[in-house]
Amino acid sequence: MLRRLHPVQPESFAFTPANLAWAKGQITKYPEGRQASAVIPLLWRAQEQEGWLSRPAIEHVAQMLGMAYIRVLEVATFYFMFQLQPVGTVAHIQICGTTSCMICGAEDLIAVCKELVSKTPHTLSADGKFSWEEVECMGACANAPMAQIGKDYYEDLTAEKLRELIGRFSTGEVPVPGPQNGRYAAEPLTGLTSLKEFESGRKQYNASAQLAVDIGDSVKRIDGTEVPLSTPWLGKPEAAKKAAAPGAEPTPGKRAKADETGVTVQEAPAKSTGKPETDGNAPEATPAATPEAKAPAPKGKAATAAGTPITPATTAKAKAAVPAAAPVEAGQKPAALAAARGGKADDLKLIWGIGPKLEALCNRLGFYHFDQIAAWTPAEVAWVDENLEGFKGRVSRDRWVAQAKHLAAGGSIAEAERIGRGEA
Ligand code: FES
Repeated sequence: MLRRLHPVQPESFAFTPANLAWAKGQITKYPEGRQASAVIPLLWRAQEQEGWLSRPAIEHVAQMLGMAYIRVLEVATFYFMFQLQPVGTVAHIQICGTTSCMICGAEDLIAVCKELVSKTPHTLSADGKFSWEEVECMGACANAPMAQIGKDYYEDLTAEKLRELIGRFSTGEVPVPGPQNGRYAAEPLTGLTSLKEFESGRKQYNASAQLAVDIGDSVKRIDGTEVPLSTPWLGKPEAAKKAAAPGAEPTPGKRAKADETGVTVQEAPAKSTGKPETDGNAPEATPAATPEAKAPAPKGKAATAAGTPITPATTAKAKAAVPAAAPVEAGQKPAALAAARGGKADDLKLIWGIGPKLEALCNRLGFYHFDQIAAWTPAEVAWVDENLEGFKGRVSRDRWVAQAKHLAAGGSIAEAERIGRGEA
């Protein structure tokens, strides 16, 4: 593919004051005479600010580093990470089309992009919010097919899931990145076969997705103002709207305005305002342990589309009680069953936050049906929260009772997830 400067260019480029200070700080990392080594970080920050690299931005970076324009243009045109044309104001979607992803359905993902974004790559959608392109292997082959959206990976995709993600992005939501089929990371679909001791105590999401949640600049343009220590809006449209209020942190897709600040690289560097440390707002250590951040893709009829009603659970009362192994006596133990009614348990994994292991644990405690969970009193929730070994606190944190009520009434999986996230 030819990589050329876009025919339509802005008249000028300038880093925002904060980004300029950051850029000067980067330059001082290199010895005198070697400032050109900062070319990639500076080009990248220019792209983070504007969304793409314009000719004025390339020339501006060249001036800062004392480089010939052509040298910086060579760098910008060589690396595919640099976008040489305007990208969507919300996100640029990069679909991996290499072997593993191609075999696992990348062409279906590209078809979704052609349908929802634009017929051709590197072309803005009608509303200007999105653009897309096909890229080579992104190194996430075990979670194929995948896409990079903004700065993060969305893995284990299906056409339907990508369609849903684009819809959520377009409403201002920033879905949590990582595997989208309920996998924690890149373990076998059937669960870990070794090193199982590491399952307990791990964070809600895998390291990469957790970092994305903690930093929270997935699709946000970086204007250099301080990045929030945690990401209250990640995955939460209401919080996103609040963050978009005047004076609030920049929101996804909101472009930063460049100012007229001059460039003097000899000045002492200002304190970097790069990506922040996390502030301890990450999910709590003990209850956050979960094999799945999300309910896995539903099976059968319910799996045909997000929001498809699932099979309603029966409304019969739970009867026979089964004692749990060495239960903790806090709260009150709910009624339990010796076995699923009619030999057929509800798929508890449709409750957002419950995966195969938590489902098995629930079954061992005698809980097989949505209507059982829906009927739990606060005291019973407290008991179950205490007795979910390795997953303590998950019932109240993920609002199982409200989700179960919704699912027992035949509600959609997508809405259950919103309930679980506290968005509904
Ligand atoms: Fe798609 Fe490697 S082939 S990430």
